[in-house]
Amino acid sequence: MRLSHRVSSLKPSATVAVMNRAAALKAAGVDVLNFSAGEPDFNSPQVAKDAAVAALGANQTKYLPTAGDPATRALIAEFVSTRNRIPNVTPDHVLITAGVKMALYLTMQALFDPPAAGQAPMEMLLPVPAWVSFAPIAELAGAKVVEMPTTTASGFKITPEQLRKAITPRSRVLLINTPSNPCSTMYTPDELAALAQVVAECAATIAPELVIVADELYQHIVFGGVPHKSIGSIPAVAERTITINGPGKSYAMTGWRLGWLSGSGEFGKQAVAAISKLQGQTITSVPGFSLAGMRAALSHADADLAAMRAQFAKRADLIFSRLSAIPKVQVAKPIGAFYAFPDVSAYFGKKSPGGKAIASAGDLAGALLEEQKMAVVPGEDFGGCGKNHIRMSFACGEAQIEEGCKRLAAFLGSLA
Ligand SMILES: Cc1ncc(COP(=O)(O)O)c(C=O)c1O
Repeated sequence: MRLSHRVSSLKPSATVAVMNRAAALKAAGVDVLNFSAGEPDFNSPQVAKDAAVAALGANQTKYLPTAGDPATRALIAEFVSTRNRIPNVTPDHVLITAGVKMALYLTMQALFDPPAAGQAPMEMLLPVPAWVSFAPIAELAGAKVVEMPTTTASGFKITPEQLRKAITPRSRVLLINTPSNPCSTMYTPDELAALAQVVAECAATIAPELVIVADELYQHIVFGGVPHKSIGSIPAVAERTITINGPGKSYAMTGWRLGWLSGSGEFGKQAVAAISKLQGQTITSVPGFSLAGMRAALSHADADLAAMRAQFAKRADLIFSRLSAIPKVQVAKPIGAFYAFPDVSAYFGKKSPGGKAIASAGDLAGALLEEQKMAVVPGEDFGGCGKNHIRMSFACGEAQIEEGCKRLAAFLGSLA
C-alpha cells in the first residue's frame, strides 16, 4: 500500500509503545510494574461523572457549535481570565477541542505552511527534553524543529540568552511547557518574564511572526513551592500567545478527550476563528455530554483536585528520595506534573544478568521490562540530554513506587 510521505515518515510515540508492550505482558498474565502511564491513577471526580450521565439522560447527544457550546466557552473564558490571569479573553477567544493533543495539532496546522520549493521551512523553537509529541505534531504541519538543549543542572530550563541566540527571522513558534513532561520542573514567574521580554524584543525586530504556544496541561499539579504562571498573562506577549490546557491530568479525565485553547485580544480572537475553521473540517465538535462533565469538574471538583495534588506531592518526595539513594543516578526533584526523570547514563556500557548489552536508555528500559517486569519510558525520544534518562510516572501508589525503586536499584547494581 502506498502511503503519504507525511504518514510513512511519522514516528510512533515512544510512550505509547511502552504502554502497549506493558499492557500486552499484563494481558498475558505477567505482573508488570507500570511506570509508563502518563495519566493519573485516580478516578474522575464523581460530580463530573454524574453530570455527564445526567446530560446523556437529557439527550445532549447532538452536534455542538464547532468551537463549543456557549456555556462551556463562557466557563473557560472565566477560567483563563481568573486562574491564568490572561487579559482580554471572552468566549470568542476560546475553542474547545478533543484533548490538548488536538489543540496543539490544530494550532500548528494553522501557524505553519509546508515550505515552498527552494525555501527554508519556518521553525519551532523547542526546549528539550520535551514531551514526545511536540516535535512530530509541528513537523506534520511543515515546521522545522530547532531544539534548545537544557541540562539537569539548569532544572531543564532554557535561559533568556539561549533563546535570544536561537531566534531568527524564520522563528514562528516558541513552545513552552510548564510544568514539564518529562522533566517535572517549572519556570519561575521571573524566569518566564525574562523569556517573554526576549520574545517581545525579537518580535519587534527580527521575528515579527513569532508566536508562543504555551502547553499548561499540568497547571494544577504543582507542589514544590513555585507558583504556576501563564506566560500569556504577561502584557508584552499576551497578544502573541496561544495557551492550551485541559482537564485530563489535573482532574483525572484523560479518557474524556477534552481540552481547549485560548488567546488574548484581537490576536486571540483571530487565532480562535482560524483554528475553529480547521476543527469544523475535522472533528466538527466535541461531544456535549462530556462537556457537561467537564463543566461540573471545573466548577465543583476543587476538593478532588487538592486531594490528588497532595498525593502527588507525597509520591514526589518518596520517589525522589529513593532514586537519589541509588549510586550514580542523578535526579532533579519533581515540583510539578508527576514524573521522575533520572539520569542513568553512568550504567551505559554494562551488561544485564540476562546478557543484554546496555548501551542506551532504550536498552536499559527494554531489559528492565523483560528481566524485572518493570515498564519505564526510555528518554531518547524526548530529545537533547533525554537520551541519558528514563521517565518514571509516579501516577501510582506508594507501595508500587517503593517496589519499583527497589527493583531498579537491584537491577542497576547487578549490571556488570
Ligand atoms: C505536555 C503534554 N501535552 C499534551 C498531552 C496530551 O494531552 P491530551 O491527553 O489532553 O491530549 C500530554 C499527555 O501526556 C502532555 O504530557
